[in-house]
Amino acid sequence: MTDRYAVIGNPIEQSKSPLIHTAFAQVTRQEMEYTKLLAPLDGFASVVDAFRASGGRGMNVTAPFKLDAFAYATDLAPSAQMAGAVNAMKFEGDKVYAENFDGVGLVRDVVHNLGCPLQGRRVLILGAGGATRGALLPILAQGPAEVVIVNRTVSKAQALAELAHQHQTGSVPVRGMGYDALGDQAFDVVLNATSASLTAELPPLSPSAFAPACLAYELAYGKGLTPFLQLARQAGVTRLADGVGMLAEQAAEAFAWWRGVRPDTAAVIAQLTVPLV
Ligand code: ATR
Repeated sequence: MTDRYAVIGNPIEQSKSPLIHTAFAQVTRQEMEYTKLLAPLDGFASVVDAFRASGGRGMNVTAPFKLDAFAYATDLAPSAQMAGAVNAMKFEGDKVYAENFDGVGLVRDVVHNLGCPLQGRRVLILGAGGATRGALLPILAQGPAEVVIVNRTVSKAQALAELAHQHQTGSVPVRGMGYDALGDQAFDVVLNATSASLTAELPPLSPSAFAPACLAYELAYGKGLTPFLQLARQAGVTRLADGVGMLAEQAAEAFAWWRGVRPDTAAVIAQLTVPLV
């Protein structure tokens, strides 16, 4: 019988996951199907129950269900615990194993695909929501010189910095602060993990935050030259990227977890890239 996987969300029409996983299955010759599942906002658990009962092997989880999946899981990986959210599940009997591959996907894209090592670098992360929570430990594991979390609501940035200190295995300095407190500090890698780009807003970041030869990375995908990337370009940054590689890499991590074979992502990234104009 063909193994079944799905992505669950609401809305779900926009999801690229079926395209990505179907392409991965073809190149790795895996006998599987991958579909989209729309769940009612209050019906996550019953839709997943039905999918499992019909032989489903695993799922990706997208908005607004990442917290529902966190509650639904029986076994949470450290990545999901730190992120406080789940983006992939694997079903084995009564067990629901849960992971969050967004952070590891981001780091793999930055370090391997974009050729920008994080070791010894000064990293600035904009935002202190779920995306930042998911990214923190994988970034810290690379051994950057420091990580600064900057957020509109300063207390959230400070709380996340504290959480990172408690959970990291190394001793990378992590600080949380407001945009005003950044002063003229400059960073080698600036990651926009706010949700501002979804509404075409610009976080109140000074252009002086971008060091020469900096990488400016927008975690959102497919929005073209967002206000954040425009700010970076105007500040003279030439290395600009959006989250298409992160999307493909988190999918490859989930695929490898489910199927035991890690697909190459280059073709999928090329297919999904939206020009930054
Ligand atoms: P996600 O799960 O995508 O990270 P989230 O948990 O709602 O979403 O977090 C969104 C983040 O984007 C928050 O850090 C938010 O700042 P506040 O904590 O101050 O609300 C940030 N954000 C959203 N819109 C923003 C804007 N226009 N400028 C700056 N930060 C913004």
